[in-house]
Formats: sequence, structure tokens, C-alpha cells
Amino acid sequence: MPAKAYRAALLHCLADPREVGEEASYEFFEDGLLVVEDGRIVRIGAADALLGRLSPDTEVTHYPDALITPGFIDTHIHYPQVGVIGSYGTQLLDWLETYTFPAEGRFADAEHAREQARFFLGELLRNGTTTALVFGTVHPQSVDAFFEEALSLNLRMIAGKVLMDRNAPDYLTDTADSGYAESRALIERWHGRGRLHYAVTPRFAPTSTPEQLALAGKLFQEFSGLYMHTHISENRDEVAWVKSLFPERKNYLDVYDHHGLIGARSVFAHGIHLCDDECRRLGETGSAVAFCPTSNLFLGSGLFDLAKLEGHGVRVGLGTDVGGGTSFSQLQSLNEAYKILQLQGQKLDPFKALYLATLGGARALYLEDRIGNLQPGKDADFVVLDYQATPLIARRLAGASSLREKLFALMILGDDRTVKATYAAGNRVHHRAA
Ligand code: GUN
Ligand code: ZN
Repeated sequence: MPAKAYRAALLHCLADPREVGEEASYEFFEDGLLVVEDGRIVRIGAADALLGRLSPDTEVTHYPDALITPGFIDTHIHYPQVGVIGSYGTQLLDWLETYTFPAEGRFADAEHAREQARFFLGELLRNGTTTALVFGTVHPQSVDAFFEEALSLNLRMIAGKVLMDRNAPDYLTDTADSGYAESRALIERWHGRGRLHYAVTPRFAPTSTPEQLALAGKLFQEFSGLYMHTHISENRDEVAWVKSLFPERKNYLDVYDHHGLIGARSVFAHGIHLCDDECRRLGETGSAVAFCPTSNLFLGSGLFDLAKLEGHGVRVGLGTDVGGGTSFSQLQSLNEAYKILQLQGQKLDPFKALYLATLGGARALYLEDRIGNLQPGKDADFVVLDYQATPLIARRLAGASSLREKLFALMILGDDRTVKATYAAGNRVHHRAA
């Protein structure tokens, strides 16, 4: 396959601005060129320096008035909850019973699962998200449908079957043994195929018996490169419930820790009401937390304390948590993240924000050698953001004097309309109608 090249403004993160300072944390080319071959990035630089060195058969696509960034990474989302996004009036535990469980029940039907998976992946790509860590339902066929669709698009995706053997409707429960066996069969079928990875997925401590958590922990250790994906400390009633179900454990995280469910590649959604001990343990074990701003506000769960988690060295990624979250757009997640931090006297500057949505997410998922920025050798997963996406954005950006100002306005005002095109492994997988 001949190389292809993309000309636009280019911006990507090289490191966490918290660690190296803002200037050293990113690379920007006002008129840049990104060269792609066999699904990987092979060169990045200034267009005037690189254009003359392209082989003559290289096709150049020019996106004037646009910014190319790495594809966004969503570190926590539920594909079976698209049908209940934007459901009125409840907080977490009532929301699960009233809206979520009935919607998830329909995924026993493989055809329903396939249609939903197709729509879901289309929405991710329309919003510029090229990698996500995804909950299925308790039904193994929900995960088969999801991975089949993701494989056909050659996407880098992580997903797993929900483990849930108590405190849920009968039509949505497995058993400790069947959950283990079904997950194992899915791992053997999908983990490492194409760009797919498997996540052992206990829903959260209240819906698994200690026996199920122990088998999940065993499974997590049995195959290399597996993920562990669950929820923690999202809602105060949930935290109290966990305390009453597991009185012998020190705290919520200790329930997972005791069953071998923490460490590298374990990702905990929310983590709003964690104590210092839990934050320290997450940090020292290399575990990650998914910050899900639109969900935390919509479900009234609370304000995520980014400074506290990062202070304990915890890896933090950004999640939409659709359908508790209200948008697939990571630009919208950043918009709400900014406000959540404002309310706590913290600042989310635009370069840190871009880091959270890209390289920070990749680091949370231990995938920074493959995705997260545009360095040569990485997967060619990137998005083209349109400076003219809406009349308001065009007007606001025309008045902006710096990259920082433009980037900030884009993250506050942007959404799916901002994404002109999305590329995965060098293939154009979304192109916005003009
Ligand atoms: N905790 C347990 N299950 C869920 C879920 O589906 N969504 C959210 N936001 N929190 C949960
Ligand atoms: Zn969730």
C-alpha cells in the first residue's frame, strides 16, 4: 500500500504537562504533515519540510482550517445503554433499576445486540473516539456482537461481559462459575484478535458475591494483557451499601484488592468518594480511574477531585459513561470537567485537557506504546477538527490569538459537529456530511 499524507495544523501531547511543564508537553505544527503507511504513522512534521521528501505516489489530503489531533480515548462507557441515555429523575441505584437493567435485558437477543453495537460504534467515530473501554451486558452474545463489529472496522477496542450474580433481576444474572466459564471462552475467542482486548468486567461490588469476585480475580491473572473494568465510589448510597455487604473489608477498594482485582490494566469508573488510603493504594498498584464528568453531574453523583487522585500518583483517563453520561463527545466531557474542577478551585488548562482525552487515556490503559499521540510507529488513529464547525465556533476562533485560546474554545464549544473526519488504522471511518 502506498503511503498517504494529511496536511493540516497538527497537535499532539508528548507527556503530562503536570510532569514536564506545558511547553514540553506537546508538539504543534501550524502547517503540518502526517504521513501514514500500513495503518501506522511513519512521519510527522512541518509541511514545507516533508512535502518534498514524499514518494511520488503518495496521495496528499489537505484539510485547510482544521486541526488534526490523536483520536480520543474513552476509558469508560456502556454500549447497551444508548437506548436510555437522557432518562429523567433518578440517582445511581434507582437509575439502574428503573432504566438500565430493563434495557440491558434486551441484549439476550443477538440481533438486537448487533444493531446496537453498529449504532454505538458509529456514534463513537462520529465524535472522534477511536478507542474505548466498553461494558457489554451479562450475555456473552453482547460481547460477540460488539467485537465482530469492531473487528470489521479494525478498531482498537476493549470490552467484556458483565459479571453479576446477585442484587439484580434474574434475567440479568449469571453465577460465579458460569460467569467465569463464559468470560474465559470470550477471552479465548477475542483477546488479541486484530486490535481487540478483553476486560474482566464485574459490574460493581454490590452485584457480585465474594465467590464471583474471587473467580474474576483468578481470571484476571490467567491471561497476559487482560483488563479489569468496574465501578467504584460513585454515589454515597452505593458506598454505604458496599460497607454493609462487606463489613470485614477496610473500605470499598479493599473489596476489589482482597479478590485480586487491582493493579496494572485495572480501571475503576468514577472514584468520587475515595479516602486517602484508597487513593494511595490505587496509585501504588498502577491502577487507573476513569473521570466521567457528564455522568457525575447528570446522576448527581458528586465532584471528581482530580488534584487529589493525581497527587497520589493515580493514572486518570476520561470517560463518557454513556448512558449515565449524556454525550459521546469527549470535547463535551472536557467542557463539563472544566466546570467540575472550577467548583473545587482547580483549573483544567486546554493542554492538560487534550492530554486527558488522548495520551493520558492511553497511559491509563497501558496502551501508550500504540496510541495516544502521533509519534511515528503509533497506530494511525486520528481526528480532523473543523475550525469552522459552527458559526459560533468560527467566530470565536477567528477572534482567538493563540493556540491555547483556540483549543480551549474548541473544547468548551465543540461536540460531534466539530469532528470533520475520523481515521482508524489509517482508514477513514467517519466523514461528516458538509
Ligand atoms: N454502577 C454499577 N453499574 C453502573 C452503571 O451501569 N452505570 C453507572 N454510571 N454506574 C454503575
Ligand atoms: Zn458506568
